[in-house]
Amino acid sequence: MSQKREQWGSKLGFILAATGSAVGIGNIWKYPSIAGQNGGGAFTLIYLVCIFIVGLSIVVAEFVIGRKTQLSPVGAFEKLAPNSNWKWVGYLGVASAFVILSFYGVVGGWILKYIIDSISGGFSSLSGNPEVAGTVFDSFVTSSFSPILYQVLFMGFCIFVIVQGVKGGIEKWSKIMMPIIIVLLGVLAIRGMTLEGGMEGLSFLFNPRFEDLTASAIVLALGHSFFTVSLGMGTMITYGSYLDKKQNLMTSAVWVIFLDTAIAMLAGVAIFTTVFALGANPAEGPGLIFVILPSIFPQLAGGAIWGTLFFILLFMAALTSAISILEVVTAYFIDQKGWSRKKATIQFGGIITIVGVFCSLSLGGGINLTGFLGMPFFDVMDYLSSKYMLPIGGMLTAIFILNKWGLKEYMNELRQGMDNMSLSENLIKIFLIIAATIVAFIIFNEIYFAIVGKALIG
Ligand code: TRP
Repeated sequence: MSQKREQWGSKLGFILAATGSAVGIGNIWKYPSIAGQNGGGAFTLIYLVCIFIVGLSIVVAEFVIGRKTQLSPVGAFEKLAPNSNWKWVGYLGVASAFVILSFYGVVGGWILKYIIDSISGGFSSLSGNPEVAGTVFDSFVTSSFSPILYQVLFMGFCIFVIVQGVKGGIEKWSKIMMPIIIVLLGVLAIRGMTLEGGMEGLSFLFNPRFEDLTASAIVLALGHSFFTVSLGMGTMITYGSYLDKKQNLMTSAVWVIFLDTAIAMLAGVAIFTTVFALGANPAEGPGLIFVILPSIFPQLAGGAIWGTLFFILLFMAALTSAISILEVVTAYFIDQKGWSRKKATIQFGGIITIVGVFCSLSLGGGINLTGFLGMPFFDVMDYLSSKYMLPIGGMLTAIFILNKWGLKEYMNELRQGMDNMSLSENLIKIFLIIAATIVAFIIFNEIYFAIVGKALIG
């Protein structure tokens, strides 16, 4: 415990690591598919507003709490509000990490399998045939052994990075992988735009179709703005705890949010230009990545290469996010229990992998875990975390600052490292209140829906 706390090596390293956490499967898989289905530019507009009000406020809040306390979530809340129940917000974060990483690791495994299929030319038999691609995908994810093998491999990569520490592991690998992701996506986007008919994909993604923008799409945009910047479980508290007082937390947060949004849009451009040029179905939703893309890549010249590059960049995005989730758990055992990094990571990385095995098996590979909430265990984990645990964690963080810690103290910490930048306390307060209110509204809507069976809105 008396060891000196690990620190980021540079400002750039910290921003890339936090952006690496933010940019994940949510950006490259979820944003394009939900924006495509829910009004294109109209959805994007709502999403931008959400992310700059709710997202920004809470990213900054998490950075401030982490840097002030130099501790991961449980210790951080305990330090700022000793002997109170606020530390439970930290425990909720650690629990969320278990829940999210268990299914995230399964999807990470699917991505690895698709890299290998693409390299080995396995997509060629799917060419132009999304039905066959769909059957291949379904039979893979519902089988028992193979998805688990890939999931274990993916989790092995996470553990490998985290064991190497903050600077030597997370920062080093983020600095390598983030630029590669941006360059590859840029290349794929240019490639898509230069295909004949590709530009139509741009108007599908960006032209506002307000008639497709339902009220439930607005709730979706809000929820997604949370997930995409990794909020509500203390990831950014943990990353902020490795910072010194010289960093400007406001500009850092703006960078993370800007890059996260830009990369999501670049992914949308890369995907939809290609989908339109090859005449595939753009409103496929979740099947877009694992079904539609494998069936259209072989139709491009050099298709195996494009497919492989795409799944490699998706793998890197998933990995830099997954490590940020595992780091929350590891940091808890280091900070609160005095464990070594290696022991904490291997032990709990292993336990999360085992929970993930059940997620994978619940999709059809032998174990029937469908009883609870009437959906497979995999979906239960996704549902609990994104609909309840993360929003509740984020809302409580905002309330904590407003009602317990106090805005004065909060502003004092935030202002360190900001030099001459002026910042109105009232503005910060209003943003936090708006964020907490909006999130409370989403949670309430969700609970109402779960009980009554219909949403209040949408
Ligand atoms: N933001 C990541 C994505 O878009 C997922 C993620 C990583 C996450 N860490 C998180 C989500 C913490 C919620 C909380 O895919």
